[in-house]
Amino acid sequence: MECLKIRGGRPLRGTMRVSGAKNSAVALIPATILASAPCVIENLPRISDVLRWTDIMEELGATVSFEGSTLHVDTSQLTLHEIPNGNVKKMRASYYLMGALLGRFKRCVVGLPGGCDLGPRPIDLHMKGFEALGAKVHVEHGAVHLVADELRGARIYLDIASVGATINIMLAATLAKGQTIIENAAKEPEIIDVATLLNAMGARIKGVGTDVIRIEGVEELHGCVHSIIPDRIVTGTLMIAAAASGGEIILDQVIPAHVDSLIAKLREMGAVVEENGEQIRVVGKDSYQPIDVKTQVYPGFPTDLQQPMTALLLKAEGTSMVTDIIYGSRFKHIDELRLMGANIKVEGRSAIIEGSVPLQSAKVTATDLRAGACLVVAGLMSHGVTQIMGVEHIDRGYENIEGMLQELGADVWREVIE
Ligand code: EPU
Repeated sequence: MECLKIRGGRPLRGTMRVSGAKNSAVALIPATILASAPCVIENLPRISDVLRWTDIMEELGATVSFEGSTLHVDTSQLTLHEIPNGNVKKMRASYYLMGALLGRFKRCVVGLPGGCDLGPRPIDLHMKGFEALGAKVHVEHGAVHLVADELRGARIYLDIASVGATINIMLAATLAKGQTIIENAAKEPEIIDVATLLNAMGARIKGVGTDVIRIEGVEELHGCVHSIIPDRIVTGTLMIAAAASGGEIILDQVIPAHVDSLIAKLREMGAVVEENGEQIRVVGKDSYQPIDVKTQVYPGFPTDLQQPMTALLLKAEGTSMVTDIIYGSRFKHIDELRLMGANIKVEGRSAIIEGSVPLQSAKVTATDLRAGACLVVAGLMSHGVTQIMGVEHIDRGYENIEGMLQELGADVWREVIE
């Protein structure tokens, strides 16, 4: 079993290039199924979720080579469209196989997805979308069965602006007959990234980044070369870590607009944040103003940053509140922070955080990916050596987390323990 150890108290310093976006990568890889031709995806992060995807693609019959951060994938010989078990059960984004396989083969069987336990995470909106396009849907023995004589464009209104449903419907509609309109679509940058890849393959998608997406179905798609956008959640986590450690870092080759809400909140707390083209500079302090944070769909404050932000708010002089309206029970990190001495109450969908309580090191466990990011931030802030178990969750979304932090001067290492 592996753990991360962090000796806190060292301010992060230096310049760091941020890796490609996980939540783009996990949709772009299955999207290549629709091309039936060789595709190249550049700037992929080397994280376990991506490695799992390369295994799934091989299992389906694709030819895959992943060197450095570039993936060559050829799905022309792919014939298998039933994948009820195995890797698909271990991550959330495997649901994108449904849209991609349904789009290409008009039928598929895909195991219900796993992923971080953040409370209930239904996929009913994905299913409603597929049904509107003409697919019959049923769930049997833990797998979703989808079948359609043909897919026909439709007008689909999403009750919730869901990232996954928006992308999945877009995937399925790309090769459908006629026009699909997705209303109340999600606007996250990763959705734009997926549409950019699909359009480069010959799809006709307009309106991404707004809440109405229009897709004109096409007969077939061809191969393409696509480079992934930088990961806004890794960017945000490092910004928070810099502020938490009282350091000064420059993040390079990032898109500052993608973290506008975080920049606003860090400035409200009193941190210095400067944007300069593709760079963001963060200068931390010893203490901050308390603030309230409420997660929203993009461009609001991302739920994926509320957990690391909670650790930083322990450094504020006063009481802060973090409310998560996307995942009302994404609070498993709080118990672990309490082990480090934090004084936090959870009331409904909110965490009420008492600041200015010095953190002590402890043995803590990452229960999900961003809970792990939160504990890393807390470890950087604490006295002594913090031991973080459950590193496999962190490895799903952060490429070589200890290497990245070591480069910025942190005293962090990975250990194998019995
Ligand atoms: N929802 C439904 N029905 C659906 C779909 C979603 O009720 O059919 C609800 C969910 O339960 C949740 C809300 O809608 O309350 C938002 O869910 P969404 O579908 O937008 O989330 P997702 O696509 O499952 C992606 C990211 C998450 C990120 C959320 C919100 C991927 C693979 N995952 O999940 O990322 O938190 O959007 O931005 O893109 C992470 O990276 O740590 C992570 C969890």
